[in-house]
Amino acid sequence: MRPKIAAGNWKMNGTAASLAELHSLAMGLPENPPQVVICPPSTLLFRATNATHGSPIQIGAQDCHAEDAGAYTGDISASMVADSGATHVILGHSERRDAHRETDADVQAKTRAAWAAGLTAIVCIGESEAQRDADQTLDIIGGQLDGSLPEAVDAENTVIAYEPIWAIGTGKVPSIAQIKEVHDFIRTRLISRFGADIGNALPLLYGGSVKATNAVEIFAVENVDGALVGGASLKAKDFVPIVAALA
Ligand code: G3P
Repeated sequence: MRPKIAAGNWKMNGTAASLAELHSLAMGLPENPPQVVICPPSTLLFRATNATHGSPIQIGAQDCHAEDAGAYTGDISASMVADSGATHVILGHSERRDAHRETDADVQAKTRAAWAAGLTAIVCIGESEAQRDADQTLDIIGGQLDGSLPEAVDAENTVIAYEPIWAIGTGKVPSIAQIKEVHDFIRTRLISRFGADIGNALPLLYGGSVKATNAVEIFAVENVDGALVGGASLKAKDFVPIVAALA
């Protein structure tokens, strides 16, 4: 049985005042919640882990460096993330692949670093609109998957998030058939690379304009084990119904 996961990516949003949302989220969780992971900006990691202590909410970072320490101004390492009490880290988000020129090899190195620090890596992949229009989606997804994951993975500390770039923050959501096609493809690829036990055990999240209004339909898709949510994770009132749809 794969875990159900509702993950929130706050991106570059949130100050100390936003910690109140974590409290509201904890209060609003359903009886038997799925895994809930909130990834605030790194300035809030320590305070977020304190604020959620004793609740089922786990905290994650949005990136980490592949090296453990050194002269890398502005970066944070996986062990620093773990030191904050966080348990997860998002890696290879399309905004980092784009704005920070991160490659599949970078994401793979960061994934190893995350594991070494005891973190769960949420590895993101996704095609651009131009790639989808050119019918390259599955090639792109397959290549990113192959390149971003190390040769041996552990389903206990790895999560894959499929986020079509054109669906992020746009309100455009792929059809259910499109989501199913890509998630089935990822599952098959994982099984053929890592074997049935691991390939079937790796959780697959969908991300891109997930809202309370479309969550139920998306979560009903086979091989969708949850969501990586951006905008709708910022306010507890928006995120709680998404979590509830997964419970
Ligand atoms: O990582 C989550 C994300 O990129 C999706 O963002 O705002 O479309 O839910 P959003």
